[in-house]
Amino acid sequence: MATEAEEAQRDALAERLFGAALGAYELMTVHLGDRLGYYRALSEDGEVTSAELAAATGTDERYAREWLEQQAVAGIIEVDDVEAAAEERRYTLPAGHAEALVDRDSLAHVTPMARYGVSFAQTIPAVEEAFRTGGGVGWEEFGRLGRESQGDVNRPIFSNLLGSEWLPSIEDVHERLQTDPPARVADVACGAGWSSIAIARAYPKVTVEGLDLDEESVALARQNLAGTGVADRVSFEARDAGDPELAGSYQLVTVFEALHDMSRPVEVLRALRGLVAEDGAVVVMDERVADTFTAPGDEIERIMYTYSVLCCLPVGRSERPSAATGTVMRTDTLRSYATDAGFSEVEVLPIEHDVFRLYRLR
Ligand SMILES: C[S@@+](CC[C@H](N)C(=O)[O-])C[C@H]1O[C@@H](n2cnc3c(N)ncnc32)[C@H](O)[C@@H]1O
Repeated sequence: MATEAEEAQRDALAERLFGAALGAYELMTVHLGDRLGYYRALSEDGEVTSAELAAATGTDERYAREWLEQQAVAGIIEVDDVEAAAEERRYTLPAGHAEALVDRDSLAHVTPMARYGVSFAQTIPAVEEAFRTGGGVGWEEFGRLGRESQGDVNRPIFSNLLGSEWLPSIEDVHERLQTDPPARVADVACGAGWSSIAIARAYPKVTVEGLDLDEESVALARQNLAGTGVADRVSFEARDAGDPELAGSYQLVTVFEALHDMSRPVEVLRALRGLVAEDGAVVVMDERVADTFTAPGDEIERIMYTYSVLCCLPVGRSERPSAATGTVMRTDTLRSYATDAGFSEVEVLPIEHDVFRLYRLR
């Protein structure tokens, strides 16, 4: 028979996971609102009825009505008169919520996380299989949703912080990026390309070459580049960063949130060492995880482990041999990779961010 303490423990967990389930399901409805253009229409059109929302987005009125009611019940949107007939109720999206839901450059933008959740859910059967066989799940299996959510999750960080705060805080790099002859930047594992675009925007002289193993990501990056005003100085190419044939001499080599995903991080770092010019720098951004394993962990540790189980570890193991790093790449792990690749120092840069830590490798 369960003791009182065990019953309390049971109830606390059941309650917590009920809240988690509610959050997960609501997140999927946020994803629908994002994909169907509902939030955008609400933010542009002001007060709408279900028929007006359906007409503005080319969707079905009955479904739009159910979604509006669900979002109002969830407290994401507001309804003018709960007692009005269902078809006559008018719904609005509060301005603060609109920023979080539709402004792709806001640091509060959250819809990409919903998209990521859906992409993880779609890939679960392959991950389950990998758990049984010890195999992996390629990044390409996370599909367009995975690529787009990854790109959009980091886009506000790159467009708001990278060029205006983070790189300027590394004095010699900041100076070199502004002087002649124009600096060359290699943005390794550039994904959707937003970091490359942000660097080119911040430093009008530099040229940025983004490379990524995944051809579809390169295609997305090229698409994202169009109309940014820096297309003449940014290029994207599908390349393996671990390729020993990689050549060039760059004043800045960057790897943003990607080293832990790589099957062969040491080979990649060795190749990057060969790319950096004498007056250049290698800067790595990865997760701000704790220095040692602690359980239970804080929210950052918890979310990083979910990413690891659902995505990054299976991705890293999709090629063999694999370092099988996972999302939780601690500073000491990076140090050992960098040492094996021939670097003599890993400096933790004094840049404050809740999620990311930046390193300079020498
Ligand atoms: C989590 S995404 C990060 C993308 C981007 N840097 C960002 O911050 O949004 C990891 C990226 O690493 C790329 N990648 C993994 N191994 C690679 C390798 N050996 N060479 C080049 N790119 C690689 C993947 O294709 C993927 O686009």
